[in-house]
Amino acid sequence: MTGTVYLVGAGPGDPGLITVRGAEVLRAADVVVFDRLASPALLDLAPADAERVYAGKEPGRSALPQEEINRLLVERALAGFAVVRLKGGDPFVFGRGGEEALACARAGVPFEVVPGVTSAVAAPALAGIPVTHRGLAQSFAVVTANTAHGDGVDLARVATAVDTLVVLMAAGRLEETCRELVDAGRAAGEPAAIVQWAATDEQRTVAGTLSDLPILAAAASIGPPATLVVGAVAALAHELAVLPAARAAAEVPPGR
Ligand SMILES: C[S@@+](CC[C@H](N)C(=O)[O-])C[C@H]1O[C@@H](n2cnc3c(N)ncnc32)[C@H](O)[C@@H]1O
Repeated sequence: MTGTVYLVGAGPGDPGLITVRGAEVLRAADVVVFDRLASPALLDLAPADAERVYAGKEPGRSALPQEEINRLLVERALAGFAVVRLKGGDPFVFGRGGEEALACARAGVPFEVVPGVTSAVAAPALAGIPVTHRGLAQSFAVVTANTAHGDGVDLARVATAVDTLVVLMAAGRLEETCRELVDAGRAAGEPAAIVQWAATDEQRTVAGTLSDLPILAAAASIGPPATLVVGAVAALAHELAVLPAARAAAEVPPGR
């Protein structure tokens, strides 16, 4: 009998941010194909004898090409296995989960999407930045700064269309991105913040303005994974950032 592919969002960083359904399918997995940004602690939820395959994508290089990942998912499911494709954040937000779902659909393999907590909203939130806030921001958009695969958006088109702009894969192109946003009409003095390794012990936030953030972030050696937030809400980080210790004390392991 054909197995099922589960496209599971692991959430960002903290293993406690996976959904109940995500943890449930992991516990029953025969095969787990996981990414670099999915918390390694989540692999412990899978049965000890489950096959574990690292498909980690790092900026600029990939352990397994996407076509091979697609083929692996389909092959293992056709062999009758329950296959969990564990991806950081949400599988359909710049996660290529749609391509994997299409590969399953076209091969006649049953699949289920288990949405996850996306870093696009969670990274700002954990740095004390609500992406919407009455009186400050009524709209937000999520874009990528990555142009490696032609994924980069025309920032000029979205720059001023929304109040809050969240830019994923921002660390490698921070200076260009901030400059393009100013060229497109956002104020150079507008609040902006970049959040690295949100929901982990390594979480760091650098806040400033569109004009000085690239310098401040470089001085703090901010690198990937990092999420950029631009807009008035970014200034709330000064008041709303929660101390990491407070978060750790409230941590509940998945499944409890
Ligand atoms: C390939 S995209 C995948 C996004 C993922 N599917 C999601 O929904 O969060 C990777 C980007 O997500 C962001 N990201 C992922 N995990 C993060 C974290 N723990 N802290 C900050 N940003 C993160 C970074 O911008 C990173 O470059």
